[in-house]
Amino acid sequence: MKVALSPLHVRLAAIMVDRKWIAPLAVGATVSLVLLLFLTTLSSPDAPLALLPLSLLPSALLSHPSSPLAALYAPVFVESKLRPAPPSVRLSTASPRPPRLAYLISGTVGDGNMLKRVLLALYHPANRYVVHLDLEAPVEEREDVRDYIARHSLFTAVGNVRMITKANLVTYRGPTMVANTLHAAAILLREGGDWDWFINLSASDYPLVTQDDLLHTFSNLPRDLNFIDHTSDIGWKEFQRAKPVIIDPGLYMTKKSDVFWIPQRRSVPTAFKLFTGSAWMALSRSFIDYCIWGWDNLPRAVLMYYANFISSPEGYFHTVICNAQEFHNTTVNHDLHFISWDNPPKQHPHYLTMDDMSRMVEGNAPFARKFHRDDPVLDKIDAELLFRGPNMIVPGGWCAGSRKNGSDPCLVVGNTTILRPGPGAIKIERLMLSLLSDEKFHLSQCK
Ligand SMILES: *[C@@H]1O[C@H](CO)[C@@H](O)[C@H](O)[C@H]1NC(C)=O
Ligand SMILES: *[C@@H]1O[C@H](CO)[C@@H](O)[C@H](O)[C@H]1NC(C)=O
Ligand SMILES: *[C@@H]1O[C@H](CO)[C@@H](O)[C@H](O)[C@H]1NC(C)=O
Ligand SMILES: *[C@@H]1O[C@H](CO)[C@@H](O)[C@H](O)[C@H]1NC(C)=O
Repeated sequence: MKVALSPLHVRLAAIMVDRKWIAPLAVGATVSLVLLLFLTTLSSPDAPLALLPLSLLPSALLSHPSSPLAALYAPVFVESKLRPAPPSVRLSTASPRPPRLAYLISGTVGDGNMLKRVLLALYHPANRYVVHLDLEAPVEEREDVRDYIARHSLFTAVGNVRMITKANLVTYRGPTMVANTLHAAAILLREGGDWDWFINLSASDYPLVTQDDLLHTFSNLPRDLNFIDHTSDIGWKEFQRAKPVIIDPGLYMTKKSDVFWIPQRRSVPTAFKLFTGSAWMALSRSFIDYCIWGWDNLPRAVLMYYANFISSPEGYFHTVICNAQEFHNTTVNHDLHFISWDNPPKQHPHYLTMDDMSRMVEGNAPFARKFHRDDPVLDKIDAELLFRGPNMIVPGGWCAGSRKNGSDPCLVVGNTTILRPGPGAIKIERLMLSLLSDEKFHLSQCK
């Protein structure tokens, strides 16, 4: 019998007992868990991809009442009395509940049809979706997307897709973009949704793996990791971004006009340290709670500071998370995207085409950008990576309908906890292994 202990599980086990990160844990407990893990592996030889319900390791360690990790991972409250008691350790061989993702997919004028396509390619009934078509798009286009969602039999049956009908005016480089992202996060929090990660995408992004691949790999990860590409080495941005003061009229005018600069410059902050990075990220539920609720004043103060900062989406969350003691150790320095920059880099990354297909696949990232609307490479991704037919939903273990007569099996919802990961899961696992490796993980946090 072939026994393959997933390298990601081994790595996660190592991280969990990493003394540099956390206080020491009982080594004995770890050894027996690894053994248990190994036995579980032995007992299910036919599990897909040799990725097994081993994930009980981190969660068991995390939730042990005497584990220092329990404290690290508990939701952060000012009043420690409010902190819920960690659940007692339960060593069952069942895999943990798959995580749930909360997506914001946003677009502007002309993006209506791509929003629908990205939504179908990202859909899973256990996730949540907020779709936003900004105020620049005509009313008819927004109504078209709204009606599409309202008439889609699956979306209405499951009820996990929400369109923001009171659209926002969004300036790409301005604070209105951050406001829009926070707005969507607030909606996703308010609508309950026991989701674990918030992922911010646009109509020119596209997934390279199925949701089953993503949910499966993420099942094994500590839920508090934040995937955010960042650096404090702001270089030229100090002069061109940190010092200039801008105004985004989108904040207070009904019609959009571009940001403008005011002649005076300001100093680099001393109350917090500036970080910058990619505007794409996957943020944990606890960090989004922290940003939206604002029981600590840092997220609020930094937000007000960024109101006059050019390209604030490339700095706001980065600066907050790295200046928050309780979160900076949860950062993973990556944006989960394949993005290809020209050399030398221009303001926007280059549009991906057929020529980039092999590099995209080798990149192991779950998402890529940016694409022209309905570029032929998207059809190739649908066929070869997502196994998705035209206008169909990305298939997964939950699809219980018939495939007869070319009908979409995913129009019938089966058991949503069944995941059928494919080759994409191996790719994400590879990426996680590299991101969480000794050489990368801690050494690239908030540096
Ligand atoms: C974060 O990691 C550093 C270095 O490993 C450690 O000194 C610090 O105590 C950690 N912070 C928290 C809040 O766990
Ligand atoms: C969120 O997603 C949009 C894509 O529409 C992007 O342009 C924006 O900068 C992202 N990031 C933040 C922090 O708002
Ligand atoms: C498929 O099509 C055939 C012939 O049109 C029809 O008799 C049959 O009922 C259809 N099956 C399903 C599952 O829709
Ligand atoms: C769904 O699938 C899971 C895992 O296979 C199983 O434990 C659970 O009982 C199933 N739920 C239902 C309602 O069939």
